[in-house]
Amino acid sequence: MTRKFDGDRLLVATHNQGKLAEITEILAPHGVSVVGAAQMDLPEPEETENTFVGNARIKAHAAATATGLPALADDSGITIDALGGAPGVYTADWAETPNGRDFIRAMTRANDELTAVNAADPRLAQFRCTLVIAWPDGHDEVFEGVMPGQLVWPIRGAHGFGYDPMFQPDGYDITCAQMDPAEKNQISHRGRALKQFVAGCFG
Ligand code: IMP
Repeated sequence: MTRKFDGDRLLVATHNQGKLAEITEILAPHGVSVVGAAQMDLPEPEETENTFVGNARIKAHAAATATGLPALADDSGITIDALGGAPGVYTADWAETPNGRDFIRAMTRANDELTAVNAADPRLAQFRCTLVIAWPDGHDEVFEGVMPGQLVWPIRGAHGFGYDPMFQPDGYDITCAQMDPAEKNQISHRGRALKQFVAGCFG
């Protein structure tokens, strides 16, 4: 049985303002006030696990323990079939450079590795999001969302972030970076995980 959320304040353990805005909007009809990690001056714990759920748990429990509030955290990334599921939890790492993150470099690496293994079209991939809500007493609940699609080259579109310009969701002939952001939220891995969260903890 999924534990229900019965408080009036939910801490969202992310420093990403885009994710915070999306979660605030989805929870607006449920009478919860959403507090961001930056507002509470929370440190960003190191993500030392090798699964999405492991890393989301680290962030959610650290935030719940530090604040005494129920805390929601997410971990997300892309898995590419022909690369055995890489980059997975290392999705953001593929973009790291000495001068910050560069997603053109990350997408070029994905395309180069697909070419190196002679991956056939369609080059199937999935955006994945795991959400964990942790309570200060140590209980947690886990929700997952997946957006299946394929990787295209050259990259197309200017909206979104990360790997959006090379990711074409199933049923579309445009990439996530060519979509209206509200349309992407309807079908995205994060949107789907958030709907599960609302159904499970507020239903
Ligand atoms: P994290 O969950 O903030 O650690 O992010 C993991 C990485 O996955 C991000 O840096 C993005 O590169 C990538 N990612 C996650 N969700 C999306 C998305 O909706 N579009 C594009 N890239 C994404």
